[in-house]
Amino acid sequence: MYEELDEIRKNCENCQNCPLGKTRTKLVFGCGFPNDKIMLIGEAPGYWEDQKGIPFVGKAGQLLDKILECQGFSRDKNIYITNTVKCRPPENRVPAPEEKKACRSYLDAQIELLKPRIILLCGGTAVQSFLDTNLGITKVRGKWFDGPYSSKMMPIFHPSYLLRNDSREKGSPKWLMWQDIQEIKRAYDAL
Ligand code: URA
Repeated sequence: MYEELDEIRKNCENCQNCPLGKTRTKLVFGCGFPNDKIMLIGEAPGYWEDQKGIPFVGKAGQLLDKILECQGFSRDKNIYITNTVKCRPPENRVPAPEEKKACRSYLDAQIELLKPRIILLCGGTAVQSFLDTNLGITKVRGKWFDGPYSSKMMPIFHPSYLLRNDSREKGSPKWLMWQDIQEIKRAYDAL
């Protein structure tokens, strides 16, 4: 699996299909344990990801790792992590539809290779890439949808959103995320 992923990465390495190829520092292709069970798709690399070439390594990424690890998921052992676009949009803006479109073949190739049974759509941008809905993340999070290659997809809150919402009270974003990650673990264990 590593070699095939590396082939896709090599194609991506010099990509100039959209303007982000010119402004990025490093390509942020994906990381973690390539496997056929669970993949997480975020929005786009931010400052630290662009510096290091690894997804979710900033503050939001550290929170994401903590949440995943609470249920035994980790990049070393069992989850593969990537984004809808592989290059950082300047000023961390949301990737434009043309940028997502230009990058889509790389994401599709990653999904086609791994064929994960569970895909986590982390945040609104990832949700919009896969679900044909105008509903916001708060309406769709925690629900299962049919995904590519018979996968099940679940939208979850983006960790940046959780960083901005500190409450852990019942019904708060952090509390809801906790429900979702437990449901994800149940589905994973049942695979
Ligand atoms: N936010 C994302 O959506 N992806 C990253 O890789 C980092 C922050």
